Amino acid sequence: MSALRPETRAVHLPKPELNGSTPISVPIYQTSGFVFDDPAVFADGMARPDGAYVYGRLSNPTVRALEEAVADLEGGVAAIATGSGMGAINAVLLGLLGAGDHLIAQTALYGGTATMLAGLAERHGVEITYVPEADPAAVRAAVRPSTKALYLETIANPMTQVADLPGMSAAGREAGLVTVVDNTFASPILCRPIEHGADVVVHSATKYLSGHTDVLGGVAVFASSELHRRIWSYSLELGATADPFAAWLTLRGIQTLPLRMERHCANARLLATRLAGHPAVSAVHWPGLPSHPSYELAAKLLPDFGGVFSFDLAGGRAAGESFMRAVRLALLAPSLGGVETLILHPATTSHRSLSAPELAAAGIGEGTVRVAVGIEHPEDLWADFEQALGRLGGSAE
Ligand SMILES: Cc1ncc(COP(=O)(O)O)c(C=O)c1O
Repeated sequence: MSALRPETRAVHLPKPELNGSTPISVPIYQTSGFVFDDPAVFADGMARPDGAYVYGRLSNPTVRALEEAVADLEGGVAAIATGSGMGAINAVLLGLLGAGDHLIAQTALYGGTATMLAGLAERHGVEITYVPEADPAAVRAAVRPSTKALYLETIANPMTQVADLPGMSAAGREAGLVTVVDNTFASPILCRPIEHGADVVVHSATKYLSGHTDVLGGVAVFASSELHRRIWSYSLELGATADPFAAWLTLRGIQTLPLRMERHCANARLLATRLAGHPAVSAVHWPGLPSHPSYELAAKLLPDFGGVFSFDLAGGRAAGESFMRAVRLALLAPSLGGVETLILHPATTSHRSLSAPELAAAGIGEGTVRVAVGIEHPEDLWADFEQALGRLGGSAE
């Protein structure tokens, strides 16, 4: 299958074989355990990630089908599906790092990850150095004998800075670090970080992979079997396992991922471009705009620029709040990557745990609004944004 393009591979997902035939769509194996005739096969299944199915926390056919599908799309050798994106990030980082180890991470990160890293430092004694997302020299300067890993986001949440994956992971490799990349915003359709030197790719499958705002999930994909086996062993202890039904919903979503990404990106382009020309808007942060600091890097690394952008209103926080009240079609809600357009205020929601200096370091303003563009007709979305912008400062709210 590997010669086929991602659009084809996403449709023709690997399926478990039955007695002489194969189901067209992957079945849901809603069972927590499996029965054996042979105790030796039972024991072997407990010992390795690709053995017989034994118990749902170790593996399940529906969950494994999801793992194989995402590993295939990302160009990895194996994957671990988890109950959420944070489950995948925790499984990987807790599996890699112990007390006294040092991690290098980029400054601009999803708020939940930033909070998790603060906890790693406080509770587990892991030391962390933050570096800009496109500064390999800063990685080289930060390396210590105890440094074990480098943590990046392909496109950062919410200001959409693009990481210099080839440069950063090359600097990591020189120092023997494991490079972990959160590829949630790009999805394997826009970027496959393993091709740029990453060792592990993590996803919130809650977002684009599943794509319909109806499931929580995560996936970690590995470039080597050795690393996969190491993290798999730890993930059994952590218990952040994916449920078969959630895995099935995610598999169903993946089949339309390439189509959806195309529309998300096209819609984001239209909205970001028009907002950038609107007098009520002071800045638009989308890496497809030449004004974005990551524009040149993004144009080299990505075929398109993603479906999420943020923007600042000239009227600051008050204008941002009025805008969020005034939209009718776009929904004020958490998350992203689903078919419907969602907006939120990062400073008080997804990134609320960041202090004022940390918000500033991540480039998040008091009045920044994040838009996760859906797949609606773009002119309907623009009409909604335009009417909301037209009501700023008015008495309607
Ligand atoms: C970039 C990124 N990574 C990870 C996560 C965490 O994923 P989950 O909510 O599925 O745990 C999120 C959630 O918003 C995210 O945006």
